[in-house]
Amino acid sequence: MANTSETLLLDHTLLTTIVDDLAEKGWSQHDRFIPQALTHDLAAECQQRAADGRLAPAAVGRGATAQVREGVRGDSIQWLEQGEGAATDAYLALMDQLRQALNQALYLGLDDFESHFALYPPGAFYQRHVDRFRDDDRRTVSAVLYLNDGWLAEQGGALRIYPGETALDVAPMGGRLVIFMSGEMPHEVLPATRERLSLTGWFRRRA
Ligand code: OGA
Ligand code: MN
Repeated sequence: MANTSETLLLDHTLLTTIVDDLAEKGWSQHDRFIPQALTHDLAAECQQRAADGRLAPAAVGRGATAQVREGVRGDSIQWLEQGEGAATDAYLALMDQLRQALNQALYLGLDDFESHFALYPPGAFYQRHVDRFRDDDRRTVSAVLYLNDGWLAEQGGALRIYPGETALDVAPMGGRLVIFMSGEMPHEVLPATRERLSLTGWFRRRA
């Protein structure tokens, strides 16, 4: 991929905006969060994993009670590990910079980041939910990075968030990051007419 040998650094102004948005309204959105070449490499990686059959239908809930329920969410996922490739490592390094900035500014005590690729086939959706399990409140900040080249609003697939009384739709444009407080922001994924790719992750506090 392009740019792998250099360490990418998140811009200070960008980090300040994210921190201020989270503190003031509980969510934040940024286009071109990462270089376009990296977005392309991550999209290619997600497609390759899908082609290799490495993505599996996502479950609802965790541990012994986890269940695949297509009427609730229809995406297929694969969790990321460190050291799987240049593109995914570059993404994890960027998210670690974000984790440290959030800790410094908001004292969130985030000590871990878990993330997965997600692929929604045409028509798949994820019903309204909050990103926190009943029996595990470690997930504190959610971050979704979209990997879709040339997405058009009429193709659907919006992330619909409910920051207050009115819903707000965010189109899953490639390179766009949406970040929000996991325990406080109800949201859903609307069905799309084309395949929808993303990297979704959670900054977690210590248990
Ligand atoms: C999730 C989720 C949002 C999106 O995976 O929990 O809400 O836009 N994803 O993909
Ligand atoms: Mn969610």
